Amino acid sequence: MESLLQIKDLTVGYGNIEIVKDINFTLKRGEILGIVGESGCGKSTLLKAIMQLSGTGVVTKKGSILFEGTDMLSISKEELRRIRGNRLGVVFQNPGGSLNPLRKIKHQFIETMQSHRKINKKEAYKSILNILSRLDLEDGERILNSFPFELSGGMNQRVAIALAMIMEPELILADEPTSALDVTVQVQVVEELLKLRERFFTSIIMITHNMGVVAKIADKIGVMYAGEMVEYGEKNQILETPIHPYTKALLAAIPKIDGKMPQGLPGRPFVFGESHKGCRFLSRCNCFSKECQEKTNHVSFVEKEHWSTCIKLDGVKSYGYSSIRSS
Ligand SMILES: Nc1ncnc2c1ncn2[C@@H]1O[C@H](COP(=O)(O)OP(=O)(O)O)[C@@H](O)[C@H]1O
Ligand SMILES: [Mg+2]
Repeated sequence: MESLLQIKDLTVGYGNIEIVKDINFTLKRGEILGIVGESGCGKSTLLKAIMQLSGTGVVTKKGSILFEGTDMLSISKEELRRIRGNRLGVVFQNPGGSLNPLRKIKHQFIETMQSHRKINKKEAYKSILNILSRLDLEDGERILNSFPFELSGGMNQRVAIALAMIMEPELILADEPTSALDVTVQVQVVEELLKLRERFFTSIIMITHNMGVVAKIADKIGVMYAGEMVEYGEKNQILETPIHPYTKALLAAIPKIDGKMPQGLPGRPFVFGESHKGCRFLSRCNCFSKECQEKTNHVSFVEKEHWSTCIKLDGVKSYGYSSIRSS
């Protein structure tokens, strides 16, 4: 598969504070990457950096974001706008981030479509109604004639997803798109995203808290902790043979079938902006040693595309951090 998006050494933050640090991954065409990690670890900040939307407060400190080889950090605002509207679809955690509260839904669809290509309004309505019904919004006419405040939060989120899909973008960035929806609708949304990938070979980066969603949709999983990607690999590698202690803890925190939640992570969470040495997970890790307080920027590969920042991998071949950049 050809690569669509390449993130290299990306470090971003707000003001002087670094939040997301040294992120490296490549997303191939048609590939779905699920990003997981507890609240506050920088998942939304990473996605906001990739979209390069102004007004988010995200400041890029270092690195590059290559979209089909074009560095999103060095192109004009006009070029960025064109890429974002036509080739990159965005779904925010909260539909308010995608929908204009002052415009009827139909105008929002037509404007999105018109600003990127010539359209026949009748044909456009047909395709909008079609996509709405695929997302289980059967009363399409009424929805199109509504303002966002006249619809429920769950409906607005499905409308926002339809709006991101309508241009058949090459890449969809979705920040917890299903968390506001009830379970049946979550399944439909995931299935529609999978169909979109099948039909148009769309690549997707999806942030989610829901391991069930990740297990269903993702090809690859990136695990974030305290602003760093601490493990990355094929879905099954991560779910079946996780290597970073944080990934293991996260998987153990999935509610068990008997309904009992395992204990939360002990120790003090990492604080952004405070000076720090060594592994960011150190204070919460159950298998750290002296070395962990010293080494930073370490990466170990267990397989070609499965790596972790943990140094405590018995028998696993370790590489210097720089080798990941050339992989
Ligand atoms: N606009 C902002 N200005 C300053 N700090 C922010 C802003 N948005 C988020 N943060 C901080 O960045 C960190 C990561 O947040 P976020 O990316 O939203 O995490 P996640 O999406 O994983 O929950 C948090 O400590 C949060 O308080
Ligand atoms: Mg978030």
